[in-house]
Amino acid sequence: MRIDIVTGFPKLLSSPLNESIIKQAKKKKLVTIRIHDLRRYTHDKHRTVDDTPYGGGAGMVLKPEPIFECVESQQSKRSYEEAIYVTADGETFNQKIANELSLKRNLIIVCGHYKGVDERVRLKLITREISIGDYVLTGGELAAMVIVDAIVRLIPGVLGDAESLLTDSFQERLLDSPVYTRPAEYRSMCVPDVLLSGDHQAIARWRHQQRLERTKLRRKDLLS
Ligand code: ADE
Repeated sequence: MRIDIVTGFPKLLSSPLNESIIKQAKKKKLVTIRIHDLRRYTHDKHRTVDDTPYGGGAGMVLKPEPIFECVESQQSKRSYEEAIYVTADGETFNQKIANELSLKRNLIIVCGHYKGVDERVRLKLITREISIGDYVLTGGELAAMVIVDAIVRLIPGVLGDAESLLTDSFQERLLDSPVYTRPAEYRSMCVPDVLLSGDHQAIARWRHQQRLERTKLRRKDLLS
């Protein structure tokens, strides 16, 4: 899988994409992630990527030209199943969308900043608009990170234990069960006996029961 991210602030993205599981996935060539600096697609001395909004008002708007040039230059090299714009007014991201996107070959993600991107970018280039929740960030970079992280961990081979993906919270609309590791007793708190029993069927039953109870308690809406 290949993910291209278009941004005016590449430094916001480079460090989180070079750590932990994503770093390993890149090393294993399971995913290629390229960050494109919009300033490289400008032609003026100051490498301007934003401008004031027509009609007045506060904030700056990302100019259309660098985004068009950047996205189109990538599209001329390969075809993308989706061109995603991360924005607070997009559809709300969830596990189902992550599952769906993890099956794509090539994705391009455009990050807004300040007031967002010129509307013509959304009209002409973008095929899907995604929000990571009902709150406003200073830019789309952190949202893009969240989406990339949720997608990459689903790519076969990225996580050691593929089975654990199936019981992740939100897969099957159930939250995940509690987990424990050694020691079996810590500060007078004991790991449930069943987990130490070696009885795999009993453990599976217990975990399922915990998932149901946890979901009922914390996220009743998922059960309806
Ligand atoms: N950009 C600003 N706020 C955002 C949000 N909640 N989700 C995605 N992109 C955003």
